[in-house]
Amino acid sequence: MTDMLLQVEALKNHLPLEEGLLKAVDGISFTIRRGETMGLVGESGCGKSMAVNTIMRLAPNFAQIEGDVTYFPARGAPINITKLDPFGPEIRAIRGGEIAMIFQEPMTSFSPLHTIGNQITEAIRIHRTDDKKQASKIAIDLLQRVGMSNPMQRMNEYPHQLSGGMRQRAMIAMALSCEPQLLIADEPTTALDVTVQAQVLQLMRDLQSEFGMSILYITHDLGVIARMVQVVAVMYLGRIVEFTDVDSLFYNAKHPYTEALIQSIPKIGKKSRARLESIRGAVPVPINRPRRH
Ligand SMILES: Nc1ncnc2c1ncn2[C@@H]1O[C@H](COP(=O)(O)OP(=O)(O)OP(=O)(O)O)[C@@H](O)[C@H]1O
Ligand SMILES: [Mg+2]
Repeated sequence: MTDMLLQVEALKNHLPLEEGLLKAVDGISFTIRRGETMGLVGESGCGKSMAVNTIMRLAPNFAQIEGDVTYFPARGAPINITKLDPFGPEIRAIRGGEIAMIFQEPMTSFSPLHTIGNQITEAIRIHRTDDKKQASKIAIDLLQRVGMSNPMQRMNEYPHQLSGGMRQRAMIAMALSCEPQLLIADEPTTALDVTVQAQVLQLMRDLQSEFGMSILYITHDLGVIARMVQVVAVMYLGRIVEFTDVDSLFYNAKHPYTEALIQSIPKIGKKSRARLESIRGAVPVPINRPRRH
């Protein structure tokens, strides 16, 4: 068995829009190994969500996609995800079962029409066990572990009855319910206050050491990056401009955007009246790519 889990090679996602061709993802390459946590950072609109949606075959249907995404299952031959039918059984078996995703917006993951319990148990029944009772037991146990109060009662509630933080926890429980090999977490803690955020991060780390899963963690928060990941890719305008281990990122940033991002972290000891660095200028839109960056 190889220790490689996911290999992304020259992946592109270009969107033909009325205003022009938007190169949302423009030739990115990286690899994730088993048990490894990789961070993906970059300013708003640089293509982070689009990159992972493309990997999961969830990009808009008019997108022009090129490149290869190879998934290495624990057993059997490697699978080129970009070649699969986006609605076929193979991708559906991978999505949720092998690779689970926590979306930026928790409502994306849940249907408003079914209870939280039904949705989590359904996912477990598709990917793990057909036994209804056992699936429901696994679901309650997971809700408890993500810090949901009264998990039995929550099972019967609909997504809109939960607070933002609770929904985020329920989504994390659903993502982890199938013991995925890879968890893709797209800003999973943005809707949470910092204390709950710290609990959720700890939980993900605990579950990671228990299940041995890999994590691809998308965030703007370099504090989270420092605590969670081993390697980091910095995206800028649809490209990866830096791919390095986390220590080198903080001590030896190469790209001006990374440097500016690090300078903008508040530091203990800095004069309280000193201004924080801000990144000047507006975020460029990939349709009108500046000549130099
Ligand atoms: N469905 C879509 N149709 C057209 N353009 C889109 C679509 N989804 C995203 N885009 C564009 O693709 C580019 C990349 O967006 P993406 O959502 O991947 O950014 P991001 O890095 O995840 O940003 P954020 O940090 O704000 O979540 C942006 O210019 C965005 O406007
Ligand atoms: Mg995003």
